[in-house]
Amino acid sequence: MSVFARAAFVCAVGRVADLPPGGPPELAFAGRSNVGKSSAINALAGRKALARVSKTPGRTQTINFYSLGESARLVDLPGYGYARVPQTMRAHWRELVSAYLAAPRPLAAVVLLMDARHPLTALDEQLIAWLGDARLLVLLTKADKLGRGAQQEILLRVRAALRRHVVTLFSSVTRQGIEECRDLLEQWLEQVAK
Ligand code: GTP
Ligand code: MG
Repeated sequence: MSVFARAAFVCAVGRVADLPPGGPPELAFAGRSNVGKSSAINALAGRKALARVSKTPGRTQTINFYSLGESARLVDLPGYGYARVPQTMRAHWRELVSAYLAAPRPLAAVVLLMDARHPLTALDEQLIAWLGDARLLVLLTKADKLGRGAQQEILLRVRAALRRHVVTLFSSVTRQGIEECRDLLEQWLEQVAK
């Protein structure tokens, strides 16, 4: 059985002081607001409503932790880049996410989601630079919105731009890319557990 099938909600953290101490290896899901982070977590876990999916971007302001049994955690980071979020909330996002990333915790990998129709925005590039040498799996989400030809074109373009990282097409709707994503993340979790 996949470890993702064991996903269970642990806590939602809105303040730096409430961040739980590091435990088992973590897979952090990051990306612009509304890109499909919570949907991807649900798709990987094979559940409909484990993580809250919203049509309103920028609503989730907390870091949500999920356990995968004893062996790993999934971390749903609040999305960035939603223009209608007030400046004070953006500062709060930066404070919370930078505290999370700076804390001494075993980060197995960051799953960076980008909309396949608008990849590599300035904010995505900033986050990638900020993550330094963290291991990155890049998912080009909502691939179902593009035809085959356009999908392949975008995939090659993003792969060429991010040579160090694994880049794959993904759709929570058609389940494209889910098996590869799950297999790779499980493999990475096993590697850090050794
Ligand atoms: P924030 O928490 O606000 O940062 O958003 P999020 O990145 O968690 O996105 P969420 O999973 O809530 O999805 C946002 C919207 O996109 C919802 O209306 C989803 O139904 C839709 N969506 C998510 N993934 C896909 C996908 O693969 N294909 C399509 N067509 N729609 C998707
Ligand atoms: Mg979300």
